[in-house]
Amino acid sequence: MRDHHRRLSEENTLVLDKVVVALEDFPGVGWVLDIGGGGEGVVGILKGSAVVAIDRLREELEEAPQGPLKIVMDARKMGFLDGSFGQATAFFSFCYMPREDHEAIFREVYRVLRPGGEFRVWDATYPARSNAEQQYVLIPLAAELPGSRIETSYGVRWDERGRGLEHYQHLGTSQGFEITRGREPGDWAVVLPLPATVVGGRRRGLHDGAADEAAPLGR
Ligand SMILES: C[S@@+](CC[C@H](N)C(=O)[O-])C[C@H]1O[C@@H](n2cnc3c(N)ncnc32)[C@H](O)[C@@H]1O
Repeated sequence: MRDHHRRLSEENTLVLDKVVVALEDFPGVGWVLDIGGGGEGVVGILKGSAVVAIDRLREELEEAPQGPLKIVMDARKMGFLDGSFGQATAFFSFCYMPREDHEAIFREVYRVLRPGGEFRVWDATYPARSNAEQQYVLIPLAAELPGSRIETSYGVRWDERGRGLEHYQHLGTSQGFEITRGREPGDWAVVLPLPATVVGGRRRGLHDGAADEAAPLGR
């Protein structure tokens, strides 16, 4: 990632325990839309040319490894037609987005997914802010992919209400997704006391076998 940590210091930053996410390939039909796919471009490394990576910032896409089709685009209002994608992902992207943008992004992802398509979200969770001094959260992360390991850290503004699994589940169900992962504690990547979440959402309407058999992620 570029320098997102400039203003972070011991006094103003909550440093989370390192989150280790094991990513396995996942099956699915059609293109994979990766939301906020710049930076390390982890999903792009995993799925290569099957990925269409969008990011609001050109520099973040330029920095990400080659493989995906990269498009500068705001996820709150995407230019894709309805039902364009079989899969969508957001790998530690929502942590970087203001809470007020999340609903619009979930709505747009639902729109551009085909019925039966899946939306996988990985993110860090952290508590509500109790100390006005602490304005930032640092998320150290190791992503274990087949054949490679990526070590990074994401520095984000501390959402004073905190971020939890329920937040993403609520967003998903309110837009029409059926939550297929992350329903039970053992079903998501628990790195206590501040877990990384994996929320799998399936767009209602079609229940094809491939979607039902999607491999668990982020354990
Ligand atoms: C933590 S970073 C990238 C994480 C990335 N998925 C990876 O694998 O390393 C989150 C990204 O989300 C992008 N972003 C923030 N708001 C966005 C929006 N409304 N639409 C598209 N991208 C956005 C940021 O520019 C940033 O590059």
